[in-house]
Amino acid sequence: MAGTELFGAEERKEINDVMETGVLFRYGHDAQRNNHWKAKDFESEVKKITGAKFAHAMSSGSTAIATALAASGIGAGDEVIVPPFTFIASVEAVLFIGAIPVFAEIDETLCLSAEGIEKAITKNTKGVCLVHMCGGNAEMDSIMAVIKKHNLILVEDAGQAFASSYKGTYTGLFGKAGSYSFDFFKIATAGEGGVLVTNDEETYKKADVYSDHGHSHVGAKRGMEEHPYLGFNYRISELHAAIGLAQTRRVPGIKEKNQHNKKFMQKLLSTNKHIGFAKVGDESGDSATFLNLLLPDKDTTQRVVNEFNNAGVMGFDYWFLNMYHFINQWDHLKNLQTVSNLPAQILERSQNYNTMQLPQTQEVVGRLISFSVKVAWTEEQMKELATNIISCVEKATKPVNA
Ligand SMILES: Cc1ncc(COP(=O)(O)O)c(C=O)c1O
Repeated sequence: MAGTELFGAEERKEINDVMETGVLFRYGHDAQRNNHWKAKDFESEVKKITGAKFAHAMSSGSTAIATALAASGIGAGDEVIVPPFTFIASVEAVLFIGAIPVFAEIDETLCLSAEGIEKAITKNTKGVCLVHMCGGNAEMDSIMAVIKKHNLILVEDAGQAFASSYKGTYTGLFGKAGSYSFDFFKIATAGEGGVLVTNDEETYKKADVYSDHGHSHVGAKRGMEEHPYLGFNYRISELHAAIGLAQTRRVPGIKEKNQHNKKFMQKLLSTNKHIGFAKVGDESGDSATFLNLLLPDKDTTQRVVNEFNNAGVMGFDYWFLNMYHFINQWDHLKNLQTVSNLPAQILERSQNYNTMQLPQTQEVVGRLISFSVKVAWTEEQMKELATNIISCVEKATKPVNA
């Protein structure tokens, strides 16, 4: 994945700035820090790319999405529509702010569909946690029409889709608030980190306070600041922010290279009639971190996965069997196995997680294989990979008696 492929002098320079002053904390210590404000600069860089009015760096994408939900006014007992194909953090975030996840269908964009959202609405629905999967973006025009029609709060988990845009608007900025992850596996990494974005000043101020034990961040003496709300510690350190800053500066170049490499691979793979691709709401805004193959059906796809394993093809994910990304493996969620009670366990729930049916999602994820797109791929490497992929698909689709 791009961020970790490119790591060098720029990252070391930003980290060294912090090491020289020893100010690892993002707030205050003005005299000591030699004018180095890595979290603030990281936020500015994210705003520059996305056009967000406000950005707030935090300890992870998980804490950023939980904060985005809470700062948007979603809390105990509220139903929030979520996708069954995501990273489980999106669902955990809903649960841990006291709300109740309700699962809805995705479509071939790999994201919740407008129809899926509309069908899952109940009298208790307060919001939607839309997840932009695999570097792409959802079909936002139809989704926004449903959000507006039913007066829902939209929060976007763009954990995997930093720098992805739909018709000129960046993921995370369609609703009240959105979040990006900068963990080790993303287009840019901070080691660990996340950034919340919003165009709404009030939501930003709430997020700022909530993610730092209620501190208002007004005034020079930290211990004497006002505390308008209760909060918790979701702060990012200056060291992590320094890496995130250097990495984020690389993102426009990474996106351009990713898009080129993804298109190059798609052109080569299109010569096989069995290989199709996941849709992107707006392909021109794709961050292109993943090349998402859609094969004819689940059985064929599983045979292709076996052929990949036999042939030593690397760098792909078959999400249908993944423990953390797909609901089929989430027995702990379905049975709400928690270390201590959450509001969802004692409140009424309109959906039975063990009996609910999501056939369209099963069908799409069953046919999906994703390859990480590499910025460092050469044309020769891509041609070799495409040849290997096609050869495995041919073996897996050969009629049995041929
Ligand atoms: C869609 C999505 N949301 C949230 C997260 C959580 O981010 P983090 O690992 O930074 O907590 C991830 C991480 O993979 C993700 O893919």
